Amino acid sequence: MTEEAYEAIARLGTAPLWRYFGNLFNAEPRSRAVPYLWRYPELRPYLLHFADVLSLEEAERRVLMLVNPGLPDPPATTTTLYAGIQVILPGETAQAHRHSAGAFRFIIEGRGAYTTVNGERVHMHPGDLLLTPGWHWHDHAHEGDGPMLWLDGLDFPLVNALEAGFFELFGERTQKAEVPDDISSRQFIHGRLTPAWDPRPGPNSPIGNYPWTETARAFDAIAEDATGSDADGVVLEYTNPWNGGPVMPTIGCRIARLRPGFRGVVRRQTPSTIYHVVRGSGASRVDDQLLEWSEKDVFAVPGWARYQHVNSSTSQDAVLFSYTDAPAITALGLYREEVA
Ligand SMILES: [Fe+2]
Repeated sequence: MTEEAYEAIARLGTAPLWRYFGNLFNAEPRSRAVPYLWRYPELRPYLLHFADVLSLEEAERRVLMLVNPGLPDPPATTTTLYAGIQVILPGETAQAHRHSAGAFRFIIEGRGAYTTVNGERVHMHPGDLLLTPGWHWHDHAHEGDGPMLWLDGLDFPLVNALEAGFFELFGERTQKAEVPDDISSRQFIHGRLTPAWDPRPGPNSPIGNYPWTETARAFDAIAEDATGSDADGVVLEYTNPWNGGPVMPTIGCRIARLRPGFRGVVRRQTPSTIYHVVRGSGASRVDDQLLEWSEKDVFAVPGWARYQHVNSSTSQDAVLFSYTDAPAITALGLYREEVA
């Protein structure tokens, strides 16, 4: 009778919670994502190969997705976040579109390209962080020489899990410039002095580009005088000048300087994090994996994985750009962290 009862309740669209309880209510999070490192020198030749053989008329975007071995389908880099490396050649354009997923670009190499975001041309330089928040039109164009490569970060794994993903083509290949180039960065980057005639507070930062020159100035101003974080070094958050919060409601972006010989404490947090090595080399132990990174590499730290960063150089800084889903997790009341 009991087995028949189990079969009967299955036919009625039900299941016995007592048989699933341990899977649904874990003692602590167990990410399907694994700690993983993508080495830039291994990826770059293939990016240039596909730049040769695949036109941007054939590809909406020419990007190698960084697919976590634990998250092959649908592909994602951590459970909530995505990373990819994009390449665009001189003379090319990537057509205008928009999506409800939030996105940014962190520029790796090249010169002379720009992205147009809601009618504003935003020029790219290595080390710049460019935002295209959710539902902002964006297209890319390259008027320089040599290939331009950047890291794309998006929250679409989270947005799609929430079944809130929308996508739309602009209809024309590129947008026209409707405001002076780089105006948002010039108006807002000095966050303590914001335009009083244009109060548009919103959940997304209005800054199109957080240029590397300003990031370098911030580190120079701090010099050797800051204590920094025991786990993350001298770590700075890119902020929304309207409210001092994260740059987007779902994605927080940071840049960290690990001094020569830095050895962080072991830490874990519910948000997952993707790192990009701006300069230097070192290693991060993430749970039982040792990820030995060098300049321009990308690595993933799943949520609730223990991590410890080490700058293995005794003379050179290491600089790590990172992004997390911390704003979303915090807004949902699910943020936790633990230092070993
Ligand atoms: Fe896009």
